[in-house]
Amino acid sequence: MTEAVTETITDLTYSTYLQMDTLLSLQQTRFPESTDRSVALAEHFFIVAHQSCELWLKQIVADLRLARDLLNAPGDPAGGAEDGVELLQRAAELLRVLHEQVIVLERLPLRHFVRFRPYLGTASGAQSQQFRVLGRLLEDGTETSELYRAFLADAHRQGLSAADVCRLGVACGGPHRVAEALLDVGNGYWRWKVAHLGLVTKMVGGQQGTGGTSGEDYLLRRITLPFRDLRQLRGNPHTEVLATSPV
Ligand code: HEM
Repeated sequence: MTEAVTETITDLTYSTYLQMDTLLSLQQTRFPESTDRSVALAEHFFIVAHQSCELWLKQIVADLRLARDLLNAPGDPAGGAEDGVELLQRAAELLRVLHEQVIVLERLPLRHFVRFRPYLGTASGAQSQQFRVLGRLLEDGTETSELYRAFLADAHRQGLSAADVCRLGVACGGPHRVAEALLDVGNGYWRWKVAHLGLVTKMVGGQQGTGGTSGEDYLLRRITLPFRDLRQLRGNPHTEVLATSPV
């Protein structure tokens, strides 16, 4: 049995492990290369950027789902929450990568984009399933956000409300680290949306999106800062200091 495993592992190569043939065959441009290689290559760049975003989104969503489950888990609250913090911090870093993926697309020459854009038909980032799932995990800043509810559940198990966590800060340990990591994730998400809007205004100006929305105005309305309740509560310590301040 051990020998069989060893044999399999020594047979394994970089390209078979990562399924490179499949991976590198997935960038199918629609603009004919025979018409203009530069335009086809620009479309390739556009596809790679989107596919990279979706791959990183897959990891981010999985990390956040596990973090949510660990924070919700009633057994071993301290251990579960610490693993949750680690995952939240990783997701925050990955959102930074996602942000870069959008910024790099600003190097897409407009003259090339206008030529291949008609080939996109009605395909639009607004149809991204994974982005929708991410929104459900993070958005609203109210108790409807799945991660915020998990944070509350973890804090409650330790006898704390969200207000207590903000007031106590580092003194309350785990829940404070969860709150900090949540805000990092929320800010990363918000930064992605702002960078995406910046890209869109450069690339399509006031034109409609391929998904049929007004484009710029629509995206502007969709920029939200997740975990609004938590942000509100972070204002409280200022009020408390002011109330006890001699000046
Ligand atoms: C030249 C580059 C890009 C342009 C011109 C562009 C344009 C747009 C427009 C106009 C919309 C509004 C919906 C519509 O009517 O189509 C949209 C939404 C969206 N796009 Fe892009 N996009 C670009 C790059 C990207 C990239 C790299 C991603 C990464 C996956 C992405 C993901 C999304 C998502 C998730 C939405 C929905 C956002 C929300 O609901 O808040 N887009 N995009």
